[in-house]
Amino acid sequence: MNIPVINLKAQFKKVKKDVFKGLQEILTEQRLILGKYCNLLESTISEYTGVPHAISCANGTDALILSLMALGIKNGDEVITTPYTFFSTASSIALINAKPVFVDVQEHDLNINPELIEKAITPKTKAIIVVHLFGKLCDMNAVCRIAERHGIPVVEDMAQSLGARKGGGMSGSFGDIAALSFYPTKNLGGIGEGGMVLTKRKDLGEKVRKLRVHGMDNTPYHHEMIGFNSRLDEIKACALMAKFPHLESWNMKRIENAKHYNKRLKGLPIIFPNVGDDGSHIVHQYVIRLKERDGLQGFLKEKGIQTGIYYPVPLHLQECFSSLGYKKGSFPVAEEAALTSLALPAYPELTKAEKAYIVESVRSFLMSPL
Ligand SMILES: Cc1ncc(COP(=O)(O)O)c(C=O)c1O
Repeated sequence: MNIPVINLKAQFKKVKKDVFKGLQEILTEQRLILGKYCNLLESTISEYTGVPHAISCANGTDALILSLMALGIKNGDEVITTPYTFFSTASSIALINAKPVFVDVQEHDLNINPELIEKAITPKTKAIIVVHLFGKLCDMNAVCRIAERHGIPVVEDMAQSLGARKGGGMSGSFGDIAALSFYPTKNLGGIGEGGMVLTKRKDLGEKVRKLRVHGMDNTPYHHEMIGFNSRLDEIKACALMAKFPHLESWNMKRIENAKHYNKRLKGLPIIFPNVGDDGSHIVHQYVIRLKERDGLQGFLKEKGIQTGIYYPVPLHLQECFSSLGYKKGSFPVAEEAALTSLALPAYPELTKAEKAYIVESVRSFLMSPL
């Protein structure tokens, strides 16, 4: 067998007809940027998440930068976030000359530890970025309570969590502003780069709309502020609209796959992700943790099973952030996770036989005498 960590070819088969139909229309009409499909995508995601303002942009990294700029984060401000995430959660802070302040993640879901957030707040703290890592919602009640107490806005990095929900709220609806990515491997992944900012605050929504087009207001070539070029293409919006109707069922399948692994691998020396029926984890990645991570990864590779390591180096130990003064041991939970995490294929198109083969392979590695 040959099982990739994600199978975009299989996914595309489902939507191919609709994508090609849209492409033909767009290319014939030559309305290429921020047109009908971008508007439709914005209203669709807004309705789905219950967040009133949705502004499409070029990618998820830009969505984070636009969010921080809209909040007025500037040179010298501090932004609290997690060291155990994709690079852009923190690079977006540094790119606008603010300072990332890391706090460790919690053992049970690898999301930012709310108890540690409060201790890291200083008079310079101007925002908190939480990441719903691997598709699992953070404890937003706890985070928002602390943020409110200190009058600090919350940014949700929801690049991995579109569709996750808790207590009637959807990912993206809890904080002041949220950044979404449509990178091809995401649960709603495009045919290229893409992103979106979501916010319930009208003032922030209006500002992001200007910032994504050079800070232009409604009068062409009149620049109220200095923004940048971060528009979404129509062909990408059209492909995302073709995929959107499948998002819920794809997420359900990911959840089913995760539950299947949790059940069939039970008893092995593995820490499993907590995936239940409440929809708070939509399994962007199915990540297990185990001491023999590298050995298992090599063994599965030989068996034709691709896996992923998210993330091998926590951000506080990245060379580019060395000036922040963190060192090995600063964030033990994140560091341990970086050494032990392994993502198994859990994409919606996995077949029964493939899942059985993966389970059998993991079991045979971990049960074989060393
Ligand atoms: C947690 C997280 N934040 C931000 C991003 C950035 O998104 P993009 O790749 O669209 O710039 C990603 C995607 O890779 C991500 O996983």
